[in-house]
Amino acid sequence: MHDPLGNERMPRLDCGAAVLRPWQMDDLDSLVASANDESVSRGLRDRFPYPYSGDDGRAWLAYAVRASEPLWALEIDGAAVGGVSLHPGSDVHRHAAELGYWLAQRYWNRGVMSRVIAEFAPRAMRAYGLYRLYAAVYEGNPSSCRVLEKCGFVHEGVNKSAVVKRGRLLDLHMYARTVPALPGEAGHAA
Ligand SMILES: CC(C)(COP(=O)(O)OP(=O)(O)OC[C@H]1O[C@@H](n2cnc3c(N)ncnc32)[C@H](O)[C@@H]1OP(=O)(O)O)[C@@H](O)C(=O)NCCC(=O)NCCS
Repeated sequence: MHDPLGNERMPRLDCGAAVLRPWQMDDLDSLVASANDESVSRGLRDRFPYPYSGDDGRAWLAYAVRASEPLWALEIDGAAVGGVSLHPGSDVHRHAAELGYWLAQRYWNRGVMSRVIAEFAPRAMRAYGLYRLYAAVYEGNPSSCRVLEKCGFVHEGVNKSAVVKRGRLLDLHMYARTVPALPGEAGHAA
């Protein structure tokens, strides 16, 4: 289900190390410079291609500026150098969402994404009425696992042989932050 409000429920979030804000068409140059990196695309779905061309960037921005999905550009020093996304579920999964994120390699290992997700996760869960925010990390991505662990996500288990990426069959590590009960239900934290 696409959220009809897109990112309007949380249009801008200052995370200290970076700002989350809507994508803009003039993000093209910094988007392509940041995204055209095999090391970045390796941890992501194939719809985030490598090589990442100008046409790929234009197609993404044309989608992202109008998307009803909640998507944010991650801005550092005035340039869009990464992204954060929510993929809300539908039907009985409508209060759960998958979290996605990426960052230009030149900013890795400085604590940027840990800071961003620590700010983003609790606020997004409240803003979008989520009881479950989860991330699925491909085998061999310890940096992403570490970000999630530092941000209070629990390692729930491993989906064996779940992903084929670049010709390799990979396990999927599932992480989640959850609210244990509906408001008013036993176990709900007031
Ligand atoms: C995953 C990603 C967002 C991390 O961003 P980042 O800003 O570098 O993350 P942080 O610096 O906040 O934290 C990284 C942590 O991983 C640790 N780390 C890095 N490489 C590691 C390795 N090989 N083994 C173990 N830990 C490692 C870092 O030391 C750091 O932990 P620490 O703060 O306890 O020292 C970034 O690497 C990225 O964009 N990757 C490509 C896209 C991707 O994989 N997205 C996630 C999809 S699930």
